[in-house]
Amino acid sequence: MEKPTVRIALIGHRFMGKLHSHAYNMVQQLMDLPCRIELAVLCGRDPVALKSAQNAWGWREASTDWRAVVARNDIDAVDIAVPGNAHAEIALAALAHGKHVLCEKPLANTLGDAQAMADAAEASGKVDMVGFNYRRAPAVVLARHLIEEGLLGKLFQVRGTYLQDWAVDPQVPLTWRFDRAIAGSGSLGDLLTHVLDMTRYLVGEFEQVTAVSHTFVSQRPLPANFSGAGLGHAGQAAADAFGSVDVDDVTAVLAKLQGGVVGVFEATRFATGFKNALCLEVHGDRGAIRFDLERMNELDYYAVETATPTRQGFRRILATHPDHPYMQYWWPEGHIVGYDVTFAHEIYDWLSAIVRSERVAPDFMDGLRCQAVVDAIATSARDGVTVRL
Ligand SMILES: NC(=O)c1ccc[n+]([C@@H]2O[C@H](COP(=O)([O-])OP(=O)(O)OC[C@H]3O[C@@H](n4cnc5c(N)ncnc54)[C@H](O)[C@@H]3O)[C@@H](O)[C@H]2O)c1
Repeated sequence: MEKPTVRIALIGHRFMGKLHSHAYNMVQQLMDLPCRIELAVLCGRDPVALKSAQNAWGWREASTDWRAVVARNDIDAVDIAVPGNAHAEIALAALAHGKHVLCEKPLANTLGDAQAMADAAEASGKVDMVGFNYRRAPAVVLARHLIEEGLLGKLFQVRGTYLQDWAVDPQVPLTWRFDRAIAGSGSLGDLLTHVLDMTRYLVGEFEQVTAVSHTFVSQRPLPANFSGAGLGHAGQAAADAFGSVDVDDVTAVLAKLQGGVVGVFEATRFATGFKNALCLEVHGDRGAIRFDLERMNELDYYAVETATPTRQGFRRILATHPDHPYMQYWWPEGHIVGYDVTFAHEIYDWLSAIVRSERVAPDFMDGLRCQAVVDAIATSARDGVTVRL
């Protein structure tokens, strides 16, 4: 039988736009997708960079008018890869025009926007997904399987950190990631949301948070080409103009989760020496797991074995066997995969759900629940209080 075709519009063509475009090409060529996909329209604001991205990544058309694009009858699905301040407007318009929507994380910059998006998605009957891609690292899915099988027993503690160091230099310019009006928050929304989502996926819901945030560098040089959104981490600093940072450089959290689990979490752009270290550890009475994104093909697993106490220790599982999650699509065992496949797995599952008219997780409701934790953390850090969810 002829496979159906899903016609995609992608909004945003820089860091995430490039990764999502690459992922569409990978799923099409390598992952035995239940549909064909048409890379129909790539949207952005800079016509020259947009044209070059369109040609390089195989998009049929380019447009600087996302509003017109999401209204078109020849588009089935809209993929949002722009900063958080534009997520709600684009997603609501796309859902109103009957499109399936994949939206990058965090779902929105405010709880109100996240609620409106989750409500609209629920009412639409379309397939909505939020881009917490690290859930789909094979080793993370394996961790979930071990926990679901009861191999960790009763869970006690979870410890999650997301450590980067690209902001340590005070000369790093004031790009949109330092601007609350565009990004919503700093390390909290940018980094900690991945840890919060992974914790919800592996352990359960948050019940209470107590947080501390801090901004180490409060003034940064404006980029030479400063124009607000659309600038990544990089960019050249202008000679003498400075602007204020109004987001958190670091956020640390103590939490209680359902089932009496205690959590400790930290996200920072100032962890000198760390580039992209998302680490999660979960401890139970029968065992423990440990994951580090910088070693993303591996899962450390500890099993409590009363018979041989002198030989106990964490064992390293290389999650590349064809029976490991998603690995049937990739290379022979031990031929490791990288960051980009997490996006391919996400897009594969979103498109498969569209074809089968099924739900997929994490959906906008998951994005909303994560945003509620973000909101509680921000309130706790601002007011110096413990917040219950
Ligand atoms: N899943 C992940 O691991 C991950 C990693 C990085 C970023 N992100 C998320 O992806 C999103 C985009 O981040 P990025 O790193 O690609 O940013 P970026 O600065 O590299 O690219 C932003 C893109 O959005 C476009 N844009 C900005 N504002 C717009 C608007 N109002 N209307 C239309 N287009 C607009 C810009 O022209 C540019 O193409 C953010 O929500 C971010 O949190 C997710």
